Amino acid sequence: MAFFSKITAALLLLLLLLVGTSAAAQLSTSFYSSSCPKLFSTVKSVVQSAIAKEKRMGASILRLFFHDCFVLGCDASVLLDDTATFRGEKTAKPNNNSIRGFDVIDQIKSAVEKVCPGVVSCADVLAIASRDSVVILGGPDWDVKLGRRDSRKASFAKANKEIPPPNSTLSNLISKFAAKGLSTKDMVALSGSHTIGLARCTSFRGHIYNDTDIDSSFAKLRQGNCPRASGSGDNNLAPLDLQTPTAFDNDYYKNLIRFKGLLHSDQELYNANATATNSLVRAFGGSTATFFADFVTGMIKMGDVKPLTGSKGEIRKKCRKVN
Ligand code: HEM
Ligand SMILES: *[C@@H]1O[C@H](CO)[C@@H](O)[C@H](O)[C@H]1NC(C)=O
Ligand SMILES: *[C@@H]1O[C@H](CO)[C@@H](O)[C@H](O)[C@H]1NC(C)=O
Ligand SMILES: *[C@@H]1O[C@H](CO)[C@@H](O)[C@H](O)[C@H]1NC(C)=O
Ligand SMILES: *[C@@H]1O[C@H](CO)[C@@H](O)[C@H](O)[C@H]1NC(C)=O
Repeated sequence: MAFFSKITAALLLLLLLLVGTSAAAQLSTSFYSSSCPKLFSTVKSVVQSAIAKEKRMGASILRLFFHDCFVLGCDASVLLDDTATFRGEKTAKPNNNSIRGFDVIDQIKSAVEKVCPGVVSCADVLAIASRDSVVILGGPDWDVKLGRRDSRKASFAKANKEIPPPNSTLSNLISKFAAKGLSTKDMVALSGSHTIGLARCTSFRGHIYNDTDIDSSFAKLRQGNCPRASGSGDNNLAPLDLQTPTAFDNDYYKNLIRFKGLLHSDQELYNANATATNSLVRAFGGSTATFFADFVTGMIKMGDVKPLTGSKGEIRKKCRKVN
């Protein structure tokens, strides 16, 4: 009897351990294959027309996914609007006057609700739309793991603390990604997202005026549309990749090797002190295939950050508010 109850206890413990650690493992690429067979084509056609209207939108959607996953996990918390009684993430420092694309996410969600009402989470819509954006702009394709549910909360404080700022040092970047289970290699590969999209003067002013690890003619070029004094021209935009800001390619790394990274945090990945990452930047700058493979690995790992699964959270009807 004692023997059997020990075995039973051991089995129960094993089961508990499995249940406890398998939230990410519960995500699956076929999660909606019977409940919403038209999901992928529905998402893709809305993303396609949004990018046809404005190429930058692909970059904006991809960034939303990053800012979602880094705060409470990939649970669509970033999409929740502030209300009189609810403080969301949209006005946190890394997001305020910066993240965009919410109207497109709303359009995708309502198209998806038409074909399969109440089935697909906003968190999964964002994951699929990010992949589609990368593909449409010329990047790699991959199967997206699905089955995330939507949170009923958000965290303004964690958005401020856990999303790295553009003045981060290399060791800040490594530790903020490590805190999400992402390696230094994942961090460098995911930073390659800055091959598309734009940044505001306020995000790169320190780098173009105060840093020494920057090509001087490039610094002058960017100073032309970003005044030294803060408060003037703060929202003026410049491309993160000066070569091809709407093409998902490996030019970002080639720029770093020439000291033409736009953000302080970008150039931190490649300079005299960046012994942990210089060789990764050279490898990605030298091979699109290597960059794409490690970028996909990084995106899948980032998409696995603390998803809500099973009966946790909810399937939101509208991405901007809890049900
Ligand atoms: C490594 C740490 C990172 C830092 C410090 C960082 C910081 C920034 C900053 C400051 C901007 C410009 C925001 C503005 O001025 O309004 C930006 C833009 C962007 N970031 Fe990052 N980022 C990082 C990693 C990532 C990752 C992991 C992704 C995606 C997987 C990503 C995707 C993007 C995209 C696509 C844009 C352009 C968005 C647009 O044009 O709307 N970033 N990032
Ligand atoms: C967000 O930006 C607005 C407009 O620039 C500003 O008035 C507001 O104080 C900012 N919010 C926070 C929380 O910093
Ligand atoms: C980045 O700038 C903020 C102020 O905007 C400052 O509080 C913070 O200490 C800076 N971080 C680093 C690593 O320089
Ligand atoms: C640049 O450096 C000066 C002098 O140290 C400092 O006063 C200023 O705040 C810095 N500017 C930015 C944008 O970091
Ligand atoms: C490298 O580190 C040294 C010593 O800490 C520092 O003085 C220098 O500014 C750093 N260089 C860059 C490009 O960050």
